[in-house]
Amino acid sequence: MSPRLEEASATLPYHVGIIMDGNGRWAKAQGKGRLEGHKKGAEVARDVVRWAKNLGVKQLSLYAFSTENWQRPKLEVRGLMSLLAILLPKTLPEMMQNNVRFCTLGDISPLPHSARKAVEQASERTKNNDGIELILCLNYGGQQEVLAATKASLQWALAQDDPNVAIENLTLSKFRDHMWCHQIAPLDLLIRTGGEMRISNFHLWDAAYAELYFSDVLWPDYSQHHLQLAIENYQRRERRYGLTSEQVTHE
Ligand code: FPP
Repeated sequence: MSPRLEEASATLPYHVGIIMDGNGRWAKAQGKGRLEGHKKGAEVARDVVRWAKNLGVKQLSLYAFSTENWQRPKLEVRGLMSLLAILLPKTLPEMMQNNVRFCTLGDISPLPHSARKAVEQASERTKNNDGIELILCLNYGGQQEVLAATKASLQWALAQDDPNVAIENLTLSKFRDHMWCHQIAPLDLLIRTGGEMRISNFHLWDAAYAELYFSDVLWPDYSQHHLQLAIENYQRRERRYGLTSEQVTHE
């Protein structure tokens, strides 16, 4: 950890989310196919878990496959799923060694059997680790997550003695209990690589007060230094949650 990060460890982001963008452009610039970009991107995804852990991050969400990514060319979708099925078991020993708890966010039921099996095996094998939580967002969409929580909340309300009163009394916290992410902390820092400035349906509810950080670096070129810069930038922000700067300073 750099002295500057160590000094400010109290303000370290607990939960960092990364939109790993730029694999395709990286591959194109190298005269390679898109899948080569994803392969290199997957290596960096493996490294970033270790870097984040070393920097003191406790939860790391990586946006690996969105609900919209199914619409990509069939070959690319198949390639990404194969990467998952091949690389996850290979990465398991490293996850165990680094005390990484692996889990997923999103509906993994439509994933091909081999990918789903790899995911379930990694989740099961690492469930007692507590060094850092790696949350791989797979077939994940923030809007879909909010819709699922709305349906679950309504079902919960309908099962109460007076559903109208239950709906009237529904709080943000109770609603969040019905979200897929209910066991994960809200996002503190959202990083997007690849130069685009959008959220792309990532952690919509939980990024409500996240600090946003956009980097021009293409994901396969991302390094520990880039992550450190993002965290140092985060540490210079004032998180006000709708309050005034004076209120935040006093409290
Ligand atoms: C966005 O880059 C990246 C993705 C849609 C996939 C991210 C996947 C990895 C980093 C590999 C690890 C994940 C799995 C599932 C094994 P892009 O393809 O949109 O890049 P571009 O904007 O340059 O075209």
